[in-house]
Amino acid sequence: MTTPNITSVLKETRVFPVPEAFAAAAHVTADEHRRLTEWADRDPDGFWGHHAESLHWFQKWDRVFDGSNPPFFKWFTGGTTNASYNCLDRHLNGPHKNKAAIIWEGEPGDTRTLTYQQLHHQVCKFANGLKQLGVGKGDRVTIYMPMTPEAAIAMLACARIGAVHSVVFGGFSAEAVADRNNDAKAKLIITADIGWRRGNAVHLKQNVDEALAKSPTVEKCVVFNRARNTSVHMKPGRDIWWHDLMSDVSADCPAEELDSEHPLFVLYTSGSTGKPKGVLHTTGGYLLGASLTHRWVFDLRDDDVYWCTADVGWVTGHSYIVYGPLANAATVVMYEGAPNHPKEDRFWGIIAKYGVTILYTAPTAIRAFIKWGDQHPNAHDLSSLRLLGSVGEPINPEAWMWYHDVIGKGRCPIVDTWWQTETGAILIAPLPGAIPTKPGSATKPLPGIAAAVVDKDGNDVPANSGGFLVVKRPWPSLMRTIYGDDERFKATYWSQYPQGYYFTADGARQDEDGFIWVMGRVDDVLNVSGHRLSTMEVESALVNHPKVAEAAVVGKPDEIKGEAICCFVTVKQGVTVSDSLKDELKKHVAKEIGALARPDEVRFTDSLPKTRSGKIMRRLLRDIAAGREGKQDTTTLEDFSVLAKLRGDEE
Ligand code: WTA
Repeated sequence: MTTPNITSVLKETRVFPVPEAFAAAAHVTADEHRRLTEWADRDPDGFWGHHAESLHWFQKWDRVFDGSNPPFFKWFTGGTTNASYNCLDRHLNGPHKNKAAIIWEGEPGDTRTLTYQQLHHQVCKFANGLKQLGVGKGDRVTIYMPMTPEAAIAMLACARIGAVHSVVFGGFSAEAVADRNNDAKAKLIITADIGWRRGNAVHLKQNVDEALAKSPTVEKCVVFNRARNTSVHMKPGRDIWWHDLMSDVSADCPAEELDSEHPLFVLYTSGSTGKPKGVLHTTGGYLLGASLTHRWVFDLRDDDVYWCTADVGWVTGHSYIVYGPLANAATVVMYEGAPNHPKEDRFWGIIAKYGVTILYTAPTAIRAFIKWGDQHPNAHDLSSLRLLGSVGEPINPEAWMWYHDVIGKGRCPIVDTWWQTETGAILIAPLPGAIPTKPGSATKPLPGIAAAVVDKDGNDVPANSGGFLVVKRPWPSLMRTIYGDDERFKATYWSQYPQGYYFTADGARQDEDGFIWVMGRVDDVLNVSGHRLSTMEVESALVNHPKVAEAAVVGKPDEIKGEAICCFVTVKQGVTVSDSLKDELKKHVAKEIGALARPDEVRFTDSLPKTRSGKIMRRLLRDIAAGREGKQDTTTLEDFSVLAKLRGDEE
């Protein structure tokens, strides 16, 4: 790497202390946070071994950590456990047996609640069904489902018998399903006739039919009948209805005793280049990461009603809808559809209806809520909320403030959680009873996580200088490899630092209090007159202008400056765009963060190109800004019409 360090220009000085009520009742207080951090740094094996005791092990491990073959680390070797057992069986002999595990609401308004006992019953039956169809330990199973309890049942049933699930987000195309089937050599696929999204049926089975024509390894297809009245094509000998499979299987299915390092799932994530990577997670270490961080970061109490708005197709859905919360016997709210169906207040209605206490959502959603207006949340009783979370990208300080004031009414701490598909679990976040918050900062690494900001040689950079975010020591929930491609795993994450640091590919800075401010992917950095600027920081300056809803900033080749700053801006409802507003925004950014960051170009747009998980696809915008015909992979793009509109929208 020859890139110079990144200049950070974001100046955010607001600090919110830990609310007294949190400090008094928290699992982890400020003193405890210090004690845990020191312990983990001094004796990582002792620290992780102690916390792993919170899981059920059929056989306890011999060794906490095996680092003999880096970067292929192993955790809790010799131990045997099962993720499904930890999420279900061990809750059945106590007060949680009849506790709601999943409270589900479909987009059309249908609802279901499954207690831990009922969920266990369903999972055991479905696991027996999978066995009947020839699925065994180590076989890969693709799950392409709407957000219904059956998605979680399918995942937990795979885990129960040691099959490796590969969940593919229900918004992806047939092509994406086929690619993932083939890369994982999946033996079976689980889908539904349809799912609901913004009032429309998403024809999942139809996509699967197309995908299976190109997926030679897939032998069987199980179809959940979501709509109950659609007639889908069922191929004899290959396709089986979920309800038929469940009708004659026993509910007796003891969980397999699996090695701690037995693969739990593959989850495909797209990088900025190349084909998607099948991130592989294994059982013991992953489950420890997901459950411990869920308990700590959300300061979970037994009576919490916890809602993570992600889709199970993303890692957030894996770790913080299914494995983390269920391992902790939490009550999870699961919602199938869009936040603006039938109206823009759907989320707030759900919170009021179920008395949600913890809400975990994404900055992209928060910015949409801001754009739609405060009248929607203000029309509902949100007083049950006690804690708010954010994940997926840096949260702009102004979006953070809105979330804090309008949703949290100034009462609820915000946990801004930094992590990745690869890290399996949250690595950087404020523990709400221990760490004060600053809008836009994910704050401090969790105890046990040696995250640091370093220069290209791996030296720690001084306070407030930008650099690369790395993790200096392995941790249990770290991915184990890229499925079928150990070399790519080494090259992508471990070749940058001979010291053996895990390379996150994110830029960040650490302030004078040691708080970490993530600036986004290093591929998204601008190079303006020799200064590397974070696109996110320029975006945050734009978003704090009262007329702006959302902004994406990219570099555009410039003979003089190297890169010129090009901003794509969506405005709030009711604002009229004009050339004078463009000038106003340029001046605003220059005033907020300095003349260096003054935008060269501002373009207004109705919407921005985003991935299905809500991340802005800046590489597409770079092509548009530069006037290049893009030859980019657009398979993860959510709405293709956005691109066409942007291309036609020359100034
Ligand atoms: C970004 C999602 C800043 C980051 C869990 C990371 C964030 C990538 C945050 C991983 C956050 C996620 N603050 N940036 N709180 N959370 N990111 O694999 O660039 O979908 O590397 O995992 O999202 O995205 P992924």
